[in-house]
Amino acid sequence: MCGIAGYIGPREAVTVVFDQITRLEYRGYDSAGVAFGTERGIAVLKKAGKLNNLGQLIENEKPAAHIAMAHSRWATHGGPTDENAHPHYDQSGRIAVIHNGIIENYYELGEALKSKGHEFRSQTDTEVAAHVIGEEYAESGQFVEAVRRAVRRLRGAFAMVVMCIDEPDKIVTVRNASPLVLGIGEGENFLASDIPALLPYTREVVIMDEGDLAVLTRNEIYLEDAEGKPKLPKKIHIDWDIEAAEKGGHEHFMIKEITEQPQSIRQCLAGRLLKDETVALPETFSINDWKRFDRVIILACGTAYHAGLLGKYVFESLLRMPVEVLYASEFRYNNPIVRANDLVIVISQSGETADTLAALRVAKEGGAKTLGIVNVVGSNIARECDAVLYTQAGPEISVASTKAYTAQAALLTLIALHMAQHRAADKEKYQRLIAELERLPDHIEACLKNNEAIVRIAEHIKDTPLIFFLGRGADAAVAMEGALKMKEIAYIPTQESPAGEMKHGPLALVTDGVVAVFGVTNPPTREKVISNIKEIKARGGTVVTVVLESDTVTPAESDYVIRIPHIDSHAIAAITSVVPLQLLAYHVARLRGCEIDQPRNLAKSVTVE
Ligand code: M6R
Repeated sequence: MCGIAGYIGPREAVTVVFDQITRLEYRGYDSAGVAFGTERGIAVLKKAGKLNNLGQLIENEKPAAHIAMAHSRWATHGGPTDENAHPHYDQSGRIAVIHNGIIENYYELGEALKSKGHEFRSQTDTEVAAHVIGEEYAESGQFVEAVRRAVRRLRGAFAMVVMCIDEPDKIVTVRNASPLVLGIGEGENFLASDIPALLPYTREVVIMDEGDLAVLTRNEIYLEDAEGKPKLPKKIHIDWDIEAAEKGGHEHFMIKEITEQPQSIRQCLAGRLLKDETVALPETFSINDWKRFDRVIILACGTAYHAGLLGKYVFESLLRMPVEVLYASEFRYNNPIVRANDLVIVISQSGETADTLAALRVAKEGGAKTLGIVNVVGSNIARECDAVLYTQAGPEISVASTKAYTAQAALLTLIALHMAQHRAADKEKYQRLIAELERLPDHIEACLKNNEAIVRIAEHIKDTPLIFFLGRGADAAVAMEGALKMKEIAYIPTQESPAGEMKHGPLALVTDGVVAVFGVTNPPTREKVISNIKEIKARGGTVVTVVLESDTVTPAESDYVIRIPHIDSHAIAAITSVVPLQLLAYHVARLRGCEIDQPRNLAKSVTVE
């Protein structure tokens, strides 16, 4: 999810690629670097922090090059430091690499290379990839072939750009699940991770397909597919304006981030959910610790708190282990009881939420082990936890959190599964849960296809004065999140609770014209939920339901139905069902003309208590 740029041609190459990554600044980054051809080889300039820092180095150096690549990094492996910034050299210093995404098997590859005498200067998976390419190059002496062979050894989702000292008129680039776009000029060619970086230079682009390898020279783009078969570059003309391009052609960052969820979940699971149906979280605690914990406390605010509620459902049903989910903003004021055998999980997208940070410090004082689930690498919460698992969801720009929530829920599920490997747990549930977690990206993809149907529902409910969000079990946890999305971006008052709670008070609010959105993704509680649906309808309310596609009963009781795939685990069905609720809030807000990415009174990172 970092920014990639590349150029070969008559212009001053470093100026071009630096400008290109500046145009990707909106995506968020924590360090940046460039590599460029010189008479002596390939020079690299890189620096942690803002692009200005790199700009200063470039200013001092005044490079005059006609081939260059640049990268803005959003850290995943290793903190945001000068050393970890890209580009990285191979062992011989003849190859330089920049890369987006994750190399899942970097650890094994790195260990094998170390045993052959390779030395690494950074903690990144990218440097390992550079060494693998370098090793292949040393063997074959052929630059392009070395990249081809190395890519076959790398596992993961990545986009990579490679330069070689001995072939100073070529840039080689490979796309493997992370986006890469080539830009075609006259006597010059470009590449970038995103279209906005190309638009000031060319509007003729080639979107690389999965597995494609491209070789860029000044006058030519050679392209081949994953099997190594040459193919003709399919040129398309882009006529979007730059602002639309930053949002990937979407109207808002929120919808862009909603649609990114299959990819962000894949990134979150990468290298953790293994082929043999086990979960590896080596960067956390010892097996003894995992066996020792006898209670889990989850601390978070807002959307992250709601992900914690889903986590509680997963932990308690799989492990029969007590879990408390507490508002971080309340924790230190409520005489918290923290013990040495507690595992305290702190969840935060930004890693900077002041209330969550304060709660973490109280938990540490109590002697518990603390585990962060954080999106922003190197943030305060990430640094202060005993261990941290990054959600790897990529930068989230919209104030309304969407892809961070599903990644947090997926990561909590991974933690529960990991714990289940070291203690008594229901085997059948484990199998079902892990199988459905693996399919979560596909389930979400299927939900995104319902977008048009959701637009039509949004048109019908957009002027309602009140929306209830209801469900039972894990659906009740998701109802909380569906409601938060609706109120924060569409400014419609909501009432969210477990469906069974309605008759204890909130039912008094149901009159003609109010809407109730029910999550009905758990067949064993379906009948009970249908009774709650009837209570709403009898009082003039309009009912929208989110159901499994195998459900033939609930649709008959509903005014509007949103179907999600049939999913055999209630926890995973519930996580999936948040996607239609995100879309519903988004479209209602859009139709009401709301300021979606920056809702009134709210900030992306809440650093005040
Ligand atoms: O960065 P954090 O995850 O710690 O932020 C917590 C909340 O402020 C955040 O989730 C907030 O509720 C979102 N705006 C919801 O969309």
